[in-house]
Amino acid sequence: MAEAGTLHDAFIDELRDSYDGEKQLTKALAKLAKTATSPRLRETFAAHLEETQGQIERLEQVFELMEEKARGKHCDGIAGIVEEGKSIMAEDFDETTMDACLIAAGQRAEHYEMAAYGTLVAWAQAMGHSEAAKLLQQTLDEEKAADKKLSALAEGGINQGAADAAHADAEEEPVAAASSAPKRSLKANRR
Ligand SMILES: [Fe+2]
Ligand SMILES: [Fe+2]
Repeated sequence: MAEAGTLHDAFIDELRDSYDGEKQLTKALAKLAKTATSPRLRETFAAHLEETQGQIERLEQVFELMEEKARGKHCDGIAGIVEEGKSIMAEDFDETTMDACLIAAGQRAEHYEMAAYGTLVAWAQAMGHSEAAKLLQQTLDEEKAADKKLSALAEGGINQGAADAAHADAEEEPVAAASSAPKRSLKANRR
């Protein structure tokens, strides 16, 4: 009978999941940057794309520390988030609304990554892999900072710009339709 897997095995498995997820995200971030209209949003996605390339190298260092070959295992979670992002980009939204939606899509990915790296750091610490924990913490900090930056952009004008455009349309609609408009406000960016 095969021996039961340990937390160390689960840790290596999660590393492979994140390694694949980061690779998927480098492609997705390039598309988000290309689709964004706000120059600051484009820059934010482009900067995080560069950071993500560094995160891939950092994971390779962790694999090396664990004396494991660096290889990915398909990350279904990020794949799903990337698919949703693609659907959003295929929509015919006005520019500012699209920017608000790109932020929402980006933040879904950042939160997934924050959960993944939070676990990886905790497990590495629990098992005494302090060097690996330190490297993974650096990535966790970058993911948190990227999420905060996206919130700041959403709350610093993009959401309001999109909301103003939505309300301008609503005024032209019959009263019954206009009265339901405020219910459509996006709550996703509030953290
Ligand atoms: Fe990442
Ligand atoms: Fe990220």
